[in-house]
Amino acid sequence: MEFKNSLVFAQQLDAIDPLRKYRNEFHFPKVKGKDVIYFTGNSLGLQPKRSQKFIDDIMKDWKDLAVEGHFHAEKPWWDYHERLAAPLAKVVGAKTPEVSVMNTLTVNLHMLMVSFYRPTQKRFKIICEEKAFPSDQYMLNSQVQFHGFDPDTAIVEVKKRPGENFWQTQDVLDKINEVGEELALVLIGGVNYYNGQVFNMEAITRAAKAQGAFVGWDLAHAVGNVGLNLHDWGVDFAAWCSYKYMNSGPGNASGIFVHQKYLNNNEIPRFEGWWGTRKETRFLMKPEFEPMENADAWQVSNPPVLSLAPYLASLEMFEEVGMETLISKRKLIVAYLEFILQEIDKETEGSFEIITPKDRGCQLSVFLHGQGKELFNYLMENGVITDWREPNVIRLAPAPFYCSFADMYNFGQILKSGILAKG
Ligand SMILES: Cc1ncc(COP(=O)(O)O)c(C=O)c1O
Repeated sequence: MEFKNSLVFAQQLDAIDPLRKYRNEFHFPKVKGKDVIYFTGNSLGLQPKRSQKFIDDIMKDWKDLAVEGHFHAEKPWWDYHERLAAPLAKVVGAKTPEVSVMNTLTVNLHMLMVSFYRPTQKRFKIICEEKAFPSDQYMLNSQVQFHGFDPDTAIVEVKKRPGENFWQTQDVLDKINEVGEELALVLIGGVNYYNGQVFNMEAITRAAKAQGAFVGWDLAHAVGNVGLNLHDWGVDFAAWCSYKYMNSGPGNASGIFVHQKYLNNNEIPRFEGWWGTRKETRFLMKPEFEPMENADAWQVSNPPVLSLAPYLASLEMFEEVGMETLISKRKLIVAYLEFILQEIDKETEGSFEIITPKDRGCQLSVFLHGQGKELFNYLMENGVITDWREPNVIRLAPAPFYCSFADMYNFGQILKSGILAKG
């Protein structure tokens, strides 16, 4: 399609957007009385309007039924989490039993490391990407130290090539083969939080499995954003938060994936709690732990229904729309944003550069030349909500559920006036 940098053209794209009615399903913050242009779905997705009712229902059941709500609410609380598994499995390309929702992301990564990082003197190394999200670095370091190893030798980072802003898949594969029999685990962010790059999860998983290692993915920036096929790729485990593209609310619950081959397995080590034991016999309060036959075996505590409620509301929309439609709009809107950026860059003589490679999802990271945080501040003051990453990067993520093509055009105009204002 030949794009044009014009409002009329953008509005034409909006008119044929199959997701256009979903924009009105979300609450937009306002700046100067106008809906913002929201580019931070990669940090915290907007609030779906329907999430309020899901929360209100729980509050009402609690008011009217108190403890009886566990079993007699319209959506009983004791197995409330089970409602999220089937729609989430579609989002991540899993079988329903492979998915569960619990805790928060870093907690779940630690819990899954109990099962999937079991180092020996010979096989103890972990491969991750350089400058992984800090929480993942802390998690990996502390796990390695907990097992009595030194992070300097046990953690092997794949670096970007000098002068390049992204990781080459071949470099990840080479590193896996180089570490070889010492490799215990590969754990990488499926979509990098800084440059928005999508890793080739299938090829990396295959290579790591061929070396006899476990493979886990942190899908914080991937879930609800890019196509995932965790089961067929043979991924061992994954975890993700739900507050970015999944629009479930700040700090909200995390999902996990554990491949079918580890389900119903009493041998696999796990930190256990009462919600992981079989629900048929749970309330007999027996001392023996009998794992649930699905990924709920990793669930420790009873489900936090007040936070699962808005997650379920949001998943209802993912069910209605499907990942395919979301992904095709995402590709088009990101391509249009890229075009707008290129046009503005021409008009402002190279004021910035896109550092996100073509293997990308929703996010374009833009490195500013000769501009600083004042441009970011200008955008915020003028109703563009974006985020800033040191030293000079603005991240733009037009989430397909609620961003419009007209937003992309209008953003370009605001960006241009911000750059020109500085002179
Ligand atoms: C890639 C990545 N990993 C881990 C985290 C940490 O998530 P949480 O604070 O929910 O544990 C985040 C949060 O933004 C993230 O982006």
